[in-house]
Amino acid sequence: MKKIVKQTLFSIARTADSIIGDWGLHIHSRGLSFEPEDRGRNQDAFRFEGTTHLSILRIIRLVKPKPDDVVFELGCGKGRALCHFARCHVRRVVGIEISKFLSEIAKSNAQSLRRPHAPIEILNMDVATAYLGEGTIFYMFNPFGAKTLKNVLENIERTYNVLKKPLVIIYMNATLSHIFNEFPWLKVFSDYHRLNGQRVLIYRTTNK
Ligand SMILES: C[S@@+](CC[C@H](N)C(=O)[O-])C[C@H]1O[C@@H](n2cnc3c(N)ncnc32)[C@H](O)[C@@H]1O
Repeated sequence: MKKIVKQTLFSIARTADSIIGDWGLHIHSRGLSFEPEDRGRNQDAFRFEGTTHLSILRIIRLVKPKPDDVVFELGCGKGRALCHFARCHVRRVVGIEISKFLSEIAKSNAQSLRRPHAPIEILNMDVATAYLGEGTIFYMFNPFGAKTLKNVLENIERTYNVLKKPLVIIYMNATLSHIFNEFPWLKVFSDYHRLNGQRVLIYRTTNK
């Protein structure tokens, strides 16, 4: 009984967060689940599932983006998180999404966003084959499996080895956190659990 009450309250809170948050941003990012049409080069794309506006705002408070930051949302779905980042004073925001259907929604949300402060670009492509060299903040909400996550971290590592820029990687619902152990140049800066039990990990680069 207690469990049912808790689940009902969670569901009401989640719906309220979606309606109020979307209204505040002037976007349409609601909707629960969607299987991408293409699962990518590594065949490991996870399905679309949005996170709450409040959890994105908490991340932004922790990370404190700066004016020279370029934010990449990897597996951006309908673009909810990138819209929040674009309201910060950052240089640029890029969303990468494998589903054509979802990327079109993300584009439309980027256009309708209320009071953006940064330009937004949406790319309909597989993250495993994308150029990520310009990014300084990377946001992921459990978008893909181990192979693509490894490709992404190796890709970011290559540019980091050359440029040595400070980087932040946000991993929401961190189901594959063990993959990060292979990248010792990344250190956990924040580690907590959301009310729904999902783990959130934020990594920063160490000085190699
Ligand atoms: C769990 S959803 C998160 C959506 C969004 N980041 C959010 O927080 O609302 C994961 C998204 O990643 C996308 N995705 C999965 N694999 C991908 C890949 N290899 N390249 C680009 N997008 C991918 C899926 O289509 C899905 O929209």
